[in-house]
Amino acid sequence: MNQDQLKQLVGRAALDYVPAGQVLGVGTGSTVDCFIDALAASGLSVPGAVSSSERSTQRLLKHGIRVLDAAEVTGLAVYIDGADEIDGRGYMVKGGGAALTREKIVADLADTFVCIADASKLVQTLGAFPLPVEIIPMAAAQLTRRFSRLGGEARLREGVVTDNGGHILDVRGLSITDPLAFEAEVNQWPGVVTVGVFARHKAQVCLLGGADGVKTLTF
Ligand code: A5P
Repeated sequence: MNQDQLKQLVGRAALDYVPAGQVLGVGTGSTVDCFIDALAASGLSVPGAVSSSERSTQRLLKHGIRVLDAAEVTGLAVYIDGADEIDGRGYMVKGGGAALTREKIVADLADTFVCIADASKLVQTLGAFPLPVEIIPMAAAQLTRRFSRLGGEARLREGVVTDNGGHILDVRGLSITDPLAFEAEVNQWPGVVTVGVFARHKAQVCLLGGADGVKTLTF
């Protein structure tokens, strides 16, 4: 199976986690696109979804799935999203699609984060994938210096403006051995909107697609 087929496989597997009759949190990315398509084809009745990006909103609406504003719910049972990296504890790097801020906001509303990913995303230590950080543009140079003190090389993602009007730094060369401490530290740097380490908002379940089918990891 190629990577696209694995994404479709885990997208379909995630249907088992759609809470009956409840609003669902929906992430962003090519794997989530597969999930949204599978949801639409499944005939499951979903009263609506809270979406983490314009991209997912458009796809949900195209399929006739109602999209609710985050302010319209007080909580969500389940949030389904992809990841750029996930480790053996459910900690993730996210934001390859620049939607990390809204993803963390919707994840914060949810009781259970279900990560859907192909097996290439499972890593020993987070950091090989360039870490996305949404920032306020004015802070770019100072944040680049701060990351360099941690051994990271930050580069502005050219031509990208997020759904929130922010910019993205991609930071190469990090080895994030303590994701909780790293996230807490970077979060309090002035000008950081959201760091793409999801440690406080880690996955509780990961549906990992590989040659042997879907493996369910729980954390
Ligand atoms: C979007 O900003 C990201 O967090 C995605 O969830 C992540 O990049 C995974 O995307 P793919 O499913 O396209 O690999």
